[in-house]
Amino acid sequence: MSKEQIIKKCLFPAAGYGTRFLPATKAMPKEMLPVLTKPLIQYGVEEALEAGMDTMAIVTGRGKRSIEDHFDISYELEHQIKGTSKEPLLNEIRAVINECTFSYTRQIEMKGLGHAILSGETLIGNEPFAVVLADDLCDHAQGDAVLTQMVEIYKKYQCSIVAIEEIEPELTNKYGVIAGNEIEPGLFVIKDMVEKPEPKDAPSNLAIIGRYILTPDIFDIIKDTKAGKGGEIQITDALLTQAKKGMVLAYKFDGKRFDCGSVNGFVEATNYFYNKESK
Ligand code: UTP
Repeated sequence: MSKEQIIKKCLFPAAGYGTRFLPATKAMPKEMLPVLTKPLIQYGVEEALEAGMDTMAIVTGRGKRSIEDHFDISYELEHQIKGTSKEPLLNEIRAVINECTFSYTRQIEMKGLGHAILSGETLIGNEPFAVVLADDLCDHAQGDAVLTQMVEIYKKYQCSIVAIEEIEPELTNKYGVIAGNEIEPGLFVIKDMVEKPEPKDAPSNLAIIGRYILTPDIFDIIKDTKAGKGGEIQITDALLTQAKKGMVLAYKFDGKRFDCGSVNGFVEATNYFYNKESK
């Protein structure tokens, strides 16, 4: 890997069942749930684009075809609203379609996030890449978006990076939790990582959220990673192996994150973006 390699590809694991949002997610992907008028995955794609990535690789599953249709032209609709006051409503999505390429692969069996990321190997190849979990919706009051902040750190350290935030200690069993040595304010070298520990077993209250930059050696590591918590192949386990072999960083990002995979987080995000847009 050359020293100045920049990150052009972003992987979106979007094959999960979204059971916390049933029945809405029975026939509709969780990633297509809208916050205001925009689907969650479009927010993620725009964040990646802002960070300089133009190649979006999406891991889908059965029943997720509407994601592909969303990032495509709808000739009938475009024809219908052309020249009307409604045409500008398509401006943002048109810009995204014009500036990025999209490729898709299917995760045939939902064996966990690590397995979903491995399913994306054919789309990514041998280069560093970002990962966005679209149901973690991030916003930044000022300054750079979360992925942009992480790309800056990658340029300096050239290793895998996970985004973290401080959580209430009683919530550790919902997240991957890290322990590490702080080398710069808010930047930790990971020493330990545990998937969904009970609060008494958690090494800290620093939880991994859905933004990663990964170096491509992670694929071989995932291949050697056995199913962990919940019988799933966990990216946390693979990252701990990578951390032990070399270095993985955890970055306490500047910004706000909403867990839109949960009803509470989704409602909170909707209110937040509504207030922001109506200002
Ligand atoms: P979640 O833990 O939120 O699981 O996955 P989920 O199935 O989407 O939702 P719930 O918990 O049943 O409500 C985190 C991310 O990893 C993806 C999901 O699509 C989501 O973006 N994922 C998870 C996969 O792509 N494949 C998997 O096998 C598991």
